[in-house]
Amino acid sequence: MPRRDAGSHPAGGTDAPVHVVVDNVHVRYTTPSSAATARAQVSLPRRALHRLVGSSPSVLVRALAGVSLVVHAGEAVGVVGLNGSGKSTLLRVVAGLERPARGTVLASSVPLLLGVNAAMLTELSGRENVRLGCLAMGMSPAEATAALPDVVELAGIGAAIDHPMRTYSTGMGARLRFAIAAASNPEVLLIDEALGAGDAAFKERSQDRMSALRGNAGCVLLVSHAAQTIEETCTRAVWLHQGRVVLDGEAEDVARRYRWFAWQLAQGEEAKAAGLLEEAYRDGTDTDVRLDLRGTAQHQVRRRGGR
Ligand SMILES: Nc1ncnc2c1ncn2[C@@H]1O[C@H](COP(=O)(O)OP(=O)(O)OP(=O)(O)O)[C@@H](O)[C@H]1O
Ligand SMILES: [Mg+2]
Repeated sequence: MPRRDAGSHPAGGTDAPVHVVVDNVHVRYTTPSSAATARAQVSLPRRALHRLVGSSPSVLVRALAGVSLVVHAGEAVGVVGLNGSGKSTLLRVVAGLERPARGTVLASSVPLLLGVNAAMLTELSGRENVRLGCLAMGMSPAEATAALPDVVELAGIGAAIDHPMRTYSTGMGARLRFAIAAASNPEVLLIDEALGAGDAAFKERSQDRMSALRGNAGCVLLVSHAAQTIEETCTRAVWLHQGRVVLDGEAEDVARRYRWFAWQLAQGEEAKAAGLLEEAYRDGTDTDVRLDLRGTAQHQVRRRGGR
């Protein structure tokens, strides 16, 4: 992983304009829990009340616990981490769909979040959904009509474009969602596990499209459990663990280290995995963001080493 001197270089190592700033963001959820530990934390009268009304006590889940990162034009940043590590929460908070309990999120323009569950009207055909999707992204009816052939071409699902979406395979749906999102050429595109179901041909098309978007001064934040996709598609990657940034650096290095950690965990080698996590955390950097009153962000990275 390329090392940066403490406090001297901008994060991301680029002078390109900043598109996304995440400054010390905390997201917490209160969620009901039937675990004995949750019950034990509740006072006796409250426990009696819960029993009386048949409800469960609540616990606090820290989905993001002080995440800072800065994304520049032209970057594709992969986000990796175990299930529940905070990846989707990070994307939702950047998209403005989640309000942080603490911290600040800034984006150069309204980000577009593409998720596996992007709303589609399944009784309508793919083509009709493309039109509706374009209108929903703010295009005029004439712009939507003009964009249609390009989107249909990028989706590349042949005659199925005129079949109802309920008849689509998962991969066909993924292709169409990506094609619709890419049509608006968003400056900030957020993709949450939405490409996984695509085949090799679609993978190539979507990677080309993301490159074009980045070349056009856009940026991409991509969540994927396929470390290979991150390595092939991204210039940089962020490893999240329990809502914190473990590593933020060169995509290949971060994805490789995360994959090795996850593999050890899958083998039941918990001590080894914990060692790898600790080592990665020590090798990582913290991003310090300073915002001035005009909303301009200055940021520096600090090496953690030796902590
Ligand atoms: N709406 C919610 N209410 C309560 N807890 C939530 C909610 N959304 C997420 N969480 C919790 O926040 C944490 C982070 O969830 P998140 O969905 O961001 O993880 P993730 O990294 O995207 O996981 P995955 O790889 O499974 O998609 C988890 O502990 C999850 O249970
Ligand atoms: Mg998720």
